Amino acid sequence: MLKTTNHNIYDEWLKKEASTLKSLINQNEISVPKFYDFFKIKNTSNLLMSFENGITLSEALNSNIPHKQKLKLIEKFGQYIYHLHSLDTNKFHFKHDDWLTHQLIKAEKYLNSNQTEGNQKLLTILKKEKPKYMKQTIIHGDYTIDNVLINLDGSFKFIDVSGMEIGDPRYDEALAIRKFINKHDYLNAFYKGYQYNKITFVEYNYFCNGLYEFF
Ligand SMILES: Nc1ncnc2c1ncn2[C@@H]1O[C@H](COP(=O)(O)OP(=O)(O)OP(=O)(O)O)[C@@H](O)[C@H]1O
Ligand SMILES: [Mg+2]
Repeated sequence: MLKTTNHNIYDEWLKKEASTLKSLINQNEISVPKFYDFFKIKNTSNLLMSFENGITLSEALNSNIPHKQKLKLIEKFGQYIYHLHSLDTNKFHFKHDDWLTHQLIKAEKYLNSNQTEGNQKLLTILKKEKPKYMKQTIIHGDYTIDNVLINLDGSFKFIDVSGMEIGDPRYDEALAIRKFINKHDYLNAFYKGYQYNKITFVEYNYFCNGLYEFF
């Protein structure tokens, strides 16, 4: 699988995705595609990785499989991120940093270079109304229903991992439930699998309708 970009901000993200995949080669606790190579040609950045069979959760939910099976997949989607959030951060090569402060600095940088949909007013609010600190964990960093692959055997794999680092698990939680925030059966299924935390409405809003706007 060759993932290619030719744009400033995406080049930066692809490089980070490559280095994350590279750092995860010799382990089996976090399931991701295998890193093969990262290279630049002309104006493009390129990441070569293993092609993984399967479909995204988003595709599965849009298919005509039975409703019960969709609920089971959403529960597994919750379980899968619960597992990631429960891992011992010291066992991996992720930097320990003040994640939220760092994200806000990046948001400002993207804003100043017109590379984001967020705006100055929103950024000011996000800086002023940071949620109460919560223990940091390994996070996926963009845990949407588009960024997991489900194999035929039912196993899951994380893809699009440029945001994987040590950070606030509520960010993953918020993005995970975003597409079915008003669907009670889907939400219940998610929290059957995800027993790490239950985000408040204010926190959900901060991460999903706030911080995420900048990325
Ligand atoms: N290693 C892989 N093996 C098989 N399919 C993959 C792999 N990586 C990505 N894909 C497929 O490509 C799609 C896009 O990949 P990815 O999520 O990494 O890109 P993206 O940065 O979100 O780009 P876009 O915004 O265009 O979707 C995925 O939804 C998935 O269907
Ligand atoms: Mg993606």
